[in-house]
This record gives sequence, structure tokens and C-alpha cells, in this order.
Amino acid sequence: MITPEINPQPATAAMLQVSNLNVYYGESHILRNVDLSVQPGEMVCLIGRNGVGKTTLMKTVMGLLSPRRGDVYYQGAPVTNRPTNQRVRKGIGYVPQGREIIPRLTVEENLLLGFEARPGGRRGNERIPEEIFDLFPVLKTMLPRRGGDLSGGQQQQLAIARALVGQPRLLLLDEPTEGIQPSIVLEIEAVVKRIIRETGISVLLVEQHLHFVRQADRYYAMQKGGIVANGFTADLSQDVIQEFLAV
Ligand SMILES: Nc1ncnc2c1ncn2[C@@H]1O[C@H](COP(=O)(O)OP(=O)(O)OP(=O)(O)O)[C@@H](O)[C@H]1O
Ligand SMILES: [Mg+2]
Repeated sequence: MITPEINPQPATAAMLQVSNLNVYYGESHILRNVDLSVQPGEMVCLIGRNGVGKTTLMKTVMGLLSPRRGDVYYQGAPVTNRPTNQRVRKGIGYVPQGREIIPRLTVEENLLLGFEARPGGRRGNERIPEEIFDLFPVLKTMLPRRGGDLSGGQQQQLAIARALVGQPRLLLLDEPTEGIQPSIVLEIEAVVKRIIRETGISVLLVEQHLHFVRQADRYYAMQKGGIVANGFTADLSQDVIQEFLAV
């Protein structure tokens, strides 16, 4: 008799796996035993009130903070001890909270910086791909303007576009609609959905707007630095919404 192989098909590696992460600022214990995953093609939303540690988690995934315990895996391989630039060049894109575009550079110069994130870095003769302007037509009309002269919503679009120029496979978006007027919130939400549909990219999103949160496949809710609930956004209960979102 032929014995069937045990587990002949290895499970596909998660795009992102965070395992037992513990992060401190000095002696303040901020992240506590955080476990979280993002599967290929998935959009996952991290929710929680102000100051619970959402940005700290994003920064640790990027390597801007080092965990005292625990690991970060990207596409199945540990990256916990890798510097940020290596993580970026392996395909982790990051749009930080507060956008962080460079105000004194033009829109075009900001976008060109995105090429630094490609595996070989920036060569100097690149052109911004037309798909970027299909997604963000307003940026095409503003290429010579200084980044700092754009509205908040336009700066946010510029920050997302700059990350996309780097062709990430996993995109981290930290509160992309914070402080942005409601009509633009829906625009940003729609463009993120479109990016996922058209590129198959995986997304880890921190967001407060319920409508946007619901676009994600799954959610994790954070309180005092720990994950206290998770599930499908389709099953988000009123209790969870009230407890973890500032609605
Ligand atoms: N550089 C720092 N040094 C010391 N403590 C910090 C630092 N940055 C953040 N903290 C603290 O760590 C905790 C988590 O902050 P974090 O920015 O991760 O929260 P958050 O969930 O992203 O909040 P928000 O919704 O306001 O963006 C907070 O108590 C914050 O005061
Ligand atoms: Mg934050």
C-alpha cells in the first residue's frame, strides 16, 4: 500500500506574519504579544482608539522600531533583523501617518523618490508610470507644484502614489484619511480598492472611518497594545464598532 505523503502541499506563506511582538519605548511596554497576519491579496484593517499602539506596530513591521521579543515575517522569511531599506526593496511599501511627503520638493520629485524602493534603487532616468496618473489624475496636473502647496487630500494621494511607484507587494497605510474632508475620504477609499483589484497587492490599513474599515476582508482590534478581537469585517458587531472606532 502506498502511504500518502503527509501535508504534500505546503500552505502558502502569509505576506505578513507578526508573531508574539513586544515593543517598548524605553521602559514603557507598548506592544504586548501581538500576533497578526495578512494573506496574499488580502486587505486587513487594524482598529483601535488613540494611543493604543497602531502606529508602533506599523513602524515595527517597517523596521523603524525593534521589538524586544517576537518576530516579523514577510512572505514566510524572518525580516526582524533587517534594516528598513531592505524591507522596502523586498516589497513592503509604507505610507506613514501624517503623510510625510517632502514639502519643499515638487510633486514630480516626490514621486521620483518612490523609485528608491525598487529592488535596484533609483537609477536616475526613470519616468513616472502612466498608471500612477490613471489612479491619481490630479497629480498629473500638479507635477511642478511644491508638495507643501497641495491640500491635505492631495498630499495623501501623493504619499500613496509615491509608495506605489516602488511597486510594493504589501502596502501599509497608516490612517490615510485622517484630517481629510469627507468627499476625499471616499475617493481615497475607492482608489485603494482599485489598487488591490488591479495589482493583487496586499494591504494592512489603520483606519477610523467605518465605511472604509468595512472594505477590508478582516480586522484586528487593539487595546493597550494587545490584540483583543479579530474576525471578518462582514461580522463586525455594533459593540466592536463602538468600542474600537471613534464613531
Ligand atoms: N517616540 C515615542 N516615545 C515614547 N512613547 C511614545 C512614542 N511614540 C508613541 N509613544 C507612545 O506609545 C503609545 C502608542 O502610540 P502609537 O502612536 O503607536 O498609537 P496609535 O494607536 O497609532 O495612536 P493614534 O490613533 O493617535 O495614531 C502611546 O501611549 C504613545 O504616547
Ligand atoms: Mg497612529
